[in-house]
Amino acid sequence: MFLRLISIVSVAMIVFELPPTAPIALLADPLLTARGVDVYMLRLEQTDAVLSGNKPFKLFPNLDVARSIGQGTVLSFGGAWSNHIHALAEAGRRFGFRTIGVIRGDDGMTPTNTLIFAKSCGMTLVPVSRQDYRRRHTQEYIEELRQTHGDFYLIPEGGGNLEGVAGCQKLAQVIHRSLEGRRIDEIVLACGTGTTLAGLVSGLHQHLETAKPFVRGIAVLKGAGFLNADIRGWLYRLGANMVADSWTLETDFHCGGYGRCPPALMQFMKEFEYTHGILLDPVYTGKLMYAVYQRIELGLYKPGAQILVIHTGGLQGRAQGL
Ligand SMILES: Cc1ncc(COP(=O)(O)O)c(C=O)c1O
Repeated sequence: MFLRLISIVSVAMIVFELPPTAPIALLADPLLTARGVDVYMLRLEQTDAVLSGNKPFKLFPNLDVARSIGQGTVLSFGGAWSNHIHALAEAGRRFGFRTIGVIRGDDGMTPTNTLIFAKSCGMTLVPVSRQDYRRRHTQEYIEELRQTHGDFYLIPEGGGNLEGVAGCQKLAQVIHRSLEGRRIDEIVLACGTGTTLAGLVSGLHQHLETAKPFVRGIAVLKGAGFLNADIRGWLYRLGANMVADSWTLETDFHCGGYGRCPPALMQFMKEFEYTHGILLDPVYTGKLMYAVYQRIELGLYKPGAQILVIHTGGLQGRAQGL
């Protein structure tokens, strides 16, 4: 009881600080020069050794709520290579939360680098069958988890809730500050749940008085059309539903489905990394850059276009194949 009190008091004193800016890189490449297109990259993957990319934006507002209600335990869901589980484990270790990761599939038992790291941070790992994992949205299953593991603050898979979206609104300010006055026509980012995109679109709508760049999401899941409704729902709840023509979701660049890395993608990533010295991950940012390059090759950007891509991190996932 005494220890729990100490942990609640220490958690109560934490300030969750988001990075105010991130480095911007201009990609130098003969293809881009030939097409007359400038591609900048917001290097969020460089903002922290572990809690980088879009992760703090989604996690910190959730941890803030957990702290405000005096809940020192946080539970979430993910696969055996989940960037979200990796980041949550680190946040728990760093800020004094007990964390529980419910891990999908029989592969939950496989000691991937992600799970080894999560465990080393003190996360309790709960491998569950795919059948049980599918019940993660039901109240009944959450109650069962509470019976077994005690009370907790719940963060959905991938940090995909309204708190996560609200946190990602702050990306608009980070971009604005980091660009230092450079004009940008379009921002492109990888989408899993669409949380980051919804936050960014509403943040741009909220904070920027000047011309707002168009936002293009690259879905990494196959058949991700359903995300459009989720994103519209979040925008509506944040009062930003009038921005329908300021974003789109591309659903044809999934490279075969979530987590799939066909040889063409692998080859592209190797060339990109060799040319630019910037590491990508096969699940999110690899597909993002592959999609952007294909769009440029197809002549879908006019000469003079100024594009900003967001490196949302996830480099810990490289251990699964590259
Ligand atoms: C590295 C990386 N990039 C992009 C995304 C996609 O973010 P979202 O689920 O908010 O669309 C994720 C998933 O959280 C991720 O781990």
